[in-house]
Amino acid sequence: MKSNNRVRIFDTTLRDGEQALRRSLSKDEKLQLAKAIAKLNVDVMEVGFPASSPGDFASVELIAKEIQGPTICALARAVPEDVIACGEALKPAQHKRIHIFIATSPIHLEKKLNINLQAATDKAVEAISIAKEYTDDIEFGCEDATRTPPEDLCYIIEKAIAAGATTVNLADTVGYTTPKEFHQLLSHIKANVSNIDQAILSVHCHNDLGLAVANSAESLLAGVRQIECTVNGIGERAGNCALEEITMLLSARKDLFGLYTNIKTELIKPTSELVSSVARMPVQLNKAVVGGNAFAHSSGIHQDGVIKSSITYEIFHPEQVGISKNELYFTARSGRKAIAHFLTQTGCPCEDQEINNIYNQFLQLADKKGQVYWYDLTSLYYKNKVNLCD
Ligand code: KIV
Ligand code: ZN
Repeated sequence: MKSNNRVRIFDTTLRDGEQALRRSLSKDEKLQLAKAIAKLNVDVMEVGFPASSPGDFASVELIAKEIQGPTICALARAVPEDVIACGEALKPAQHKRIHIFIATSPIHLEKKLNINLQAATDKAVEAISIAKEYTDDIEFGCEDATRTPPEDLCYIIEKAIAAGATTVNLADTVGYTTPKEFHQLLSHIKANVSNIDQAILSVHCHNDLGLAVANSAESLLAGVRQIECTVNGIGERAGNCALEEITMLLSARKDLFGLYTNIKTELIKPTSELVSSVARMPVQLNKAVVGGNAFAHSSGIHQDGVIKSSITYEIFHPEQVGISKNELYFTARSGRKAIAHFLTQTGCPCEDQEINNIYNQFLQLADKKGQVYWYDLTSLYYKNKVNLCD
């Protein structure tokens, strides 16, 4: 396995992310998002599943023609028609990858595909050999890998690498694994697949139990060097590993991971907003990194802390992810210091006695209204001034 300190970011917003939408994206919408995702400087972007519909074939082809920089990838089941559709749609791409996947778990093999592991391996090897006619950059993925016996995974992965796969992806398709268990599985694969050094190891984690980022992060400690993720974590069901979260985790915790990505982090927030609006998927307020509350402080103790030094309650600067500044908002939980700070900043400085009066009036108003706005505070300030002059 190739191992260094750079983590490749494989964005699948336009493939797995799109699968989560109630209405699929048009060709133009996909191109608009592809341009923004390319500007983020992802290494690989998976932009569709060409065999799934003529429209998706056309979208992949258009993106392959228009987008320079990242490797453009398309998804194929391990069947010749899918691989050929990928190869044809990706023809105009500067750098192209075909991602071939097949389920490996007994549950999927028996209940969905009705084949055994050997038949799945044969299909994978055949599909890889067809893909080689189009590109040397071939990803092979095990669907439902985390519910597959480790020895079965080792068997199919070794054959796939021998057939020409240059990246091997382990999908936690149903978000079932836990960090420790995943680490053990990945270590087993590294120790038992004889040709693993010839491929980059990748993971694709779903968020059914809220562990997609934690599992992806742990996989890096086990030697994985490609993370599959999506902007805002959109994807089937509860979604995928969120690109912005794994990227900022590596940036904020260099001390722990010692790894880096090439993502232009200052484009994270604008890209998140664009994906949210084009995909019609609102971002929850408390979403890590890009949610409306990610840099908003409400309680008095926290507001006092960030006024003194933002590092008290912010583990990185909002500007690093393209958010212009943090925000203090005012409720009955807010403190005197924050009110005084806000008034001073808006050109309404107060003496100690004045701020005591204003703060008492503020608390009454906050208990009544729930949220107090900037204009309420300036109005309290001027009312207080007039009272002082009376
Ligand atoms: O979740 C999954 O298993 C997938 C594969 C196609 C990679 O999306
Ligand atoms: Zn997936």
